[in-house]
Amino acid sequence: VSQVCVTQRIFPEAIELLQAENLSHSYHESDQALDSHDLNEAIKGCEGLICLITDKVDAVLMDQAPNLKVIANVAVGYDNIDVAAASERGIVVTNTPDVLTETTADLTFALLLAAARRIPEADTYMRSGQFKEFKLYQPQIGVDVFGKTLGIVGMGRIGTAVARRGALGFGMKVLYTANSSKPEAEKELGAKQVTFEELLKESDFISINTPSTPETHHLFTLKEFEQMKRSAFLINAARGPIVKEDDLAEALESGLIQGAGIDVFEREPLIDSKLAQLKKHVVVAPHIGSASVETRRNMSLMAAQNVISALKGQCPPNALNPEIWKDV
Ligand code: GLV
Repeated sequence: VSQVCVTQRIFPEAIELLQAENLSHSYHESDQALDSHDLNEAIKGCEGLICLITDKVDAVLMDQAPNLKVIANVAVGYDNIDVAAASERGIVVTNTPDVLTETTADLTFALLLAAARRIPEADTYMRSGQFKEFKLYQPQIGVDVFGKTLGIVGMGRIGTAVARRGALGFGMKVLYTANSSKPEAEKELGAKQVTFEELLKESDFISINTPSTPETHHLFTLKEFEQMKRSAFLINAARGPIVKEDDLAEALESGLIQGAGIDVFEREPLIDSKLAQLKKHVVVAPHIGSASVETRRNMSLMAAQNVISALKGQCPPNALNPEIWKDV
């Protein structure tokens, strides 16, 4: 029986950390997620679990491992984990905040720029040999980004980093919604807190940067797209279920909004998403928000460190439910 179960391939430096601590581990060194049956088998007897957002960690799974002390998600979002069920069982849950903030904000802005300036369409055009000469009425004429209004839904760590790029890099006016006001962002970036309705109505680009929770489920449906400008863009590098995907496809097709940059989907792996068939001003990516070598390595290390702390009897640095921790 191994002490730590690692459900999918992570960076080798993280496995080396476990080895350096003499923690035995069962490592599913594959880029394919375990199915629920194999995941159930894999965690039997383990005390620490290093898992990914593709692993559904619920009460049934936790009960396969009565000695489980720590669940370390290699992600900042943790909607794949039933944290309440973990707390009831005295299991501490951890995530990987901060290390991926700037990387994810970079990707968010890359989607925004690519959708506005139609980079994927331009790329396809080039590769298929269609570029003959410069035309003033270029087929890929896009829209300006600088000086426009950027609406941030969820002004947390990543939302603020996106806002900073917009305000300081592209002279954008920043509006935001959040549970509490952000005086620093208001001072540094001139950001303004508004109601969700105002944000929908006034933004040229809307970036979703909020976690997926029951409250944010289908926050964007046809009703919200109808309130947006017809020239507006929606950027989502947060979580798929925040947007009703079929409604977004319909809004784009019918011209209710102009474009979208989407990194996350209601169903991943992507099955028959209408979004992936739309081209004009639409950019899709395979959930790569945090996908830089440096950041994915740091996330792997952070998860390993959280498990190591917990198994040494210390409350892990990135505990989401530290209140359940009792020092031994
Ligand atoms: C990835 O989606 C993450 O939450 O880190």
